[in-house]
Amino acid sequence: MQELTAVVAEKIEAGCWSVSVRAEVSERWRMPDESGISLRCELMNLASGLAKEYGGVFLRSFVFMVDDTGSSGPLQVTCYPHTVHTMTGTLALAHTADRSWANFLVLDLARTPSAASLAIRTNDCLVEQRIENCEPGAIVELARTLKIRHCIIRCANVNDRLEEELCAEILRREGVDIVLCDSSAHFAGARRFAQALEDDDGVFGISGEDAIRLNTARPISYEIRRTTRPAFDLEEKALVNVLGERPVLFVLDHVISMLYGEDIHRYASRHLHSYGEVVVMGRETDKTWPQVERICETASAAGLGRHGILVAVGGGITLDLAGTAASLFRRGIGYLRVPTTLVGLVDVAVGIKHGINAFGRKNILGSFYPPLASVSDYSFLRTLPVAEIACGFAEIIKVALVRDEKLLEQIEQYGVQLIQSHFQAPPAAAREIALRAELLMMEELAHNLFESSLARLVDFGHTFSPAIETATGYRITHGESVALDSLLSTAIAANKGICERDLVHRLFNLLRHLQLPVWDREMPSAETLCVAIQDARRHRAGVLNLVVPSAAGAAVFLQDIGREDIQRGLDTMYELASKALLPVHHPRREPRYASACV
Ligand SMILES: NC(=O)c1ccc[n+]([C@@H]2O[C@H](COP(=O)([O-])OP(=O)(O)OC[C@H]3O[C@@H](n4cnc5c(N)ncnc54)[C@H](O)[C@@H]3O)[C@@H](O)[C@H]2O)c1
Ligand SMILES: [Zn+2]
Repeated sequence: MQELTAVVAEKIEAGCWSVSVRAEVSERWRMPDESGISLRCELMNLASGLAKEYGGVFLRSFVFMVDDTGSSGPLQVTCYPHTVHTMTGTLALAHTADRSWANFLVLDLARTPSAASLAIRTNDCLVEQRIENCEPGAIVELARTLKIRHCIIRCANVNDRLEEELCAEILRREGVDIVLCDSSAHFAGARRFAQALEDDDGVFGISGEDAIRLNTARPISYEIRRTTRPAFDLEEKALVNVLGERPVLFVLDHVISMLYGEDIHRYASRHLHSYGEVVVMGRETDKTWPQVERICETASAAGLGRHGILVAVGGGITLDLAGTAASLFRRGIGYLRVPTTLVGLVDVAVGIKHGINAFGRKNILGSFYPPLASVSDYSFLRTLPVAEIACGFAEIIKVALVRDEKLLEQIEQYGVQLIQSHFQAPPAAAREIALRAELLMMEELAHNLFESSLARLVDFGHTFSPAIETATGYRITHGESVALDSLLSTAIAANKGICERDLVHRLFNLLRHLQLPVWDREMPSAETLCVAIQDARRHRAGVLNLVVPSAAGAAVFLQDIGREDIQRGLDTMYELASKALLPVHHPRREPRYASACV
């Protein structure tokens, strides 16, 4: 059935050999039926037997080919001796083994001197190679060289973990997941866990007698790459550099599909491995489960695998939908963003969260899910309606007002021009404002990507805004309600003496110049906004953390405000709007033109 054709032994170092065996095998190997299975078992046994004969263990998988004509190819078996005493031997062994198998390191610090072993999973067993007298530096070097993902550390004593913790800390910084355990029994358990779960992310820790602890230290890194040409220009390589040969399914905003569909198709057919596209409605009322389901359904029908990537091209709505779908499909596949609105470019693309609306609530379902990258092309804004550019400014003002007065001044100076030119001119100002806003957002998010701290300056303008959006059936867009919320929060701060009254006027004027709303006929009442406060409190684990500016570029968190504070804030907004002769409608009064009531 099979015949040995060559046995090649290769010396790694004194006493350490790699043995390769070639055998001819038949087409039957490929058969999924019993005959194929029994042949595979036979071959496994043959491999293990050969390995034993050479005093080692069967380590390497078969290299096996059967071509289309049915003729069989070679079988290769590599085996190693059981014990490799030196670091060089271990390294050589791990290098020869399929690298992705040499993926966990067992450190036994309970022994003196400490010893490490490299655990290499093979087809049929776990090979553990001891490294005696292992210094922490050498261990880290080993972890780095072998790109080891998991490390099990056995501690000498639960109460004396200094050395272990130090070692764990060093390895964690190298991106290694750590298992800590403190008894032989748990040591064995931890190994089983690590083996079973080694393909999953996370750190599986065992401490004490009856507890299993899970810690994670997953490195997150993604790039926001600005293109030099339009993203889908055939000469532009930003997208193809990230996507490479991986299968891609596009999720396109419906307007983007109409305006840029041809360019995208041309680019995809020239440079990418495209599995097709899903067109979604970029409307807030459609940021819902059925669209996410449709994306997942299309991905499934197209046969998109774990290696597949969703490429979202559109505004915040499209990015939120695609990001949610990417985090769910096959429990998470790759996801790349190409934002086409100013909100998308300066805000959504910077963070890692996605949400959809459900149960009458904004963003109530969603996930934190890092993208592979974002590709930023500001030339998309040439076709974006001015009102939508203004919405992007609301998010830029949000971060400027609480973090950076210089940015606020730049918006005051160039904002109108930038809106009129669709954020293209003056080019230097466009570039600097966008970059500053992106950097500030990133600085605010970087240390708190998963929002473990719920005191977030970037929540400025986002406490009352969900209520404003939902109360108006999403007629008021996200950016517009952020503008209204920012003004209300600043008015509340001024009324409480937290910031100067001038700041309210300054913000009011800026918003008006940038064509953003400063009042709305359907502005929710103080009672409704009190409910929003309660909801924000729930969202922030019982602590309100209402962000209000204390000066231009600085802010504080308020933990308690009452209905009266909100009412006074609304009154301030209403008065300012009235004086500016805007058509206004106060929730407590009849609609009318302000000039009639000033
Ligand atoms: N996940 C986050 O971190 C995050 C951050 C901010 C906002 N958001 C969400 O983003 C959404 C708002 O996003 P948005 O303001 O980008 O709106 P959007 O996605 O609705 O896009 C606005 C409109 O512009 C159209 N459009 C998009 N790009 C265009 C282009 N280049 N030319 C012409 N038309 C174009 C769309 O079809 C849509 O009608 C909200 O749902 C908000 O909750 C999410
Ligand atoms: Zn926002």
